[in-house]
Amino acid sequence: MTEDSRDTLLPLPEHVAIIMDGNGRWAKSQGLERVDGHRVGAGSVRAVLEESRRLGIRYVTLYAFSTENWKRPEEEVVALMSLFIKHLEQELPLFLENDIRLRAIGDLERLPSEVRISLQDKIERTKHCESLDLLLAVSYGSRNELTRAFRSLSKRIEQGKLSASELTEEMITDSLDTAGIPDPDLLIRTSSEFRISNFLLWQLAYSEIVVTDVHWPDFREEELNNCIDRYRRRKRRFGGLEEVEHV
Ligand code: FPP
Repeated sequence: MTEDSRDTLLPLPEHVAIIMDGNGRWAKSQGLERVDGHRVGAGSVRAVLEESRRLGIRYVTLYAFSTENWKRPEEEVVALMSLFIKHLEQELPLFLENDIRLRAIGDLERLPSEVRISLQDKIERTKHCESLDLLLAVSYGSRNELTRAFRSLSKRIEQGKLSASELTEEMITDSLDTAGIPDPDLLIRTSSEFRISNFLLWQLAYSEIVVTDVHWPDFREEELNNCIDRYRRRKRRFGGLEEVEHV
């Protein structure tokens, strides 16, 4: 359903997932290096979190680094890893002031130990927060996440703790890195690309997708609100005939 003029709007999305794209293109358009795009993009992360908290959005998932991003030149990977550490150190007060709990999803074993340690430290120090959950997808790929989930379920079958015929969708959902988190209502992708890029393939089954032409470093409060307005003018039927607000 396209966005239209409606009398009734959907409620605010409970869970917003974002593919933060266009840092490189933004940097090029400014005559800067790609890494400068990532640095300015970190400012957008802060702006989006503050605005999400102000609006009352309960879950925000940010695609910060994919399993495919390991193929980028070493120099860019190293710059991104140190940016993650710096950003996490710098933003801890913001997390605590805004009651934001950090959680990480992805193949975390692949991360350099300093990144893992910094992440674990912030996860531990924000675990009491409960107004907004920030899920940082780092070294994340949905196929990798599903493979890990299927391996752990297969192990239970091999051990005789579960039979194949008893396997349910809920068991798969509960074996993912996002266990316990409701599926995203809204997926935003910046920078005009119409792709899912191996992000939350299972969880996005009925999410509304909004693509904006704004590059991530320029994505601030105003554009987040524009995307949410576009979402709220949609109709959601989840495959049925009746319009519903949530599954
Ligand atoms: C995609 O743009 C962006 C990334 C691969 C990295 C995202 C990282 C940040 C926004 C940095 C800050 C994040 C945190 C959590 C501190 P691209 O490089 O693929 O852009 P392009 O498609 O224009 O080349």
